[in-house]
Amino acid sequence: MTTRFQELATQGKPIVPVIALPTLECALPLADTLSSCGFKVLEITLRTDCALDAIKLLVESRPELVIGAGTVKNRQQLEQTLDAGAQFIVSPGTDAAMIQQAQERNVAVVPGVMTPSEIMVAENLGLDTVKLFPAALAGGTDFIRAMAAVFPAIKFFPTGGVTEDDVNAYLALPNVICAGGTWLSPAGLLERGDWNRIHEIAQRC
Ligand code: 3PG
Repeated sequence: MTTRFQELATQGKPIVPVIALPTLECALPLADTLSSCGFKVLEITLRTDCALDAIKLLVESRPELVIGAGTVKNRQQLEQTLDAGAQFIVSPGTDAAMIQQAQERNVAVVPGVMTPSEIMVAENLGLDTVKLFPAALAGGTDFIRAMAAVFPAIKFFPTGGVTEDDVNAYLALPNVICAGGTWLSPAGLLERGDWNRIHEIAQRC
């Protein structure tokens, strides 16, 4: 069965740019640059002050894109991101109460895991997709491969230390639904508004 997040995440390329926007003004030019290269699913992290406004702006003005909220760590942030219109929720960790709240609000949620115990919490709450975070430190492709026999119904969305050089190794695994990271929108290029350079990076993926 393909669940809601899996349907959302596989629109366009199976790579989700994780975006920490320095200013609201960056939101539309960045989204348009990434979208023109086939990236239709964007995760806006709550790590910067303009994140909620950016989610709202993108949801309202780019309906062809799927806009999710990242780095959601508590129930209050979850409510704020839903008010802003976020279409999926990504968290760095596994919080049962937050997962249940997302389920009650009927929004796709992907909790962060780096141990089998956390995967069990997510699976026992009915989820079938988890974010491996930070993927590189948690064991990368070896960890995901090792989980396949024990959690055959679980798909992984690795982020954290995933790069242009190793993203295809993740995507080659049958239990990886998509992968993500900030390498598609590096802070320095965002701050300079260097959309041409971001376009080049995005084209290579
Ligand atoms: C995330 O929020 O998923 C990660 O912080 C992205 O990690 P990266 O910056 O190593 O890509």
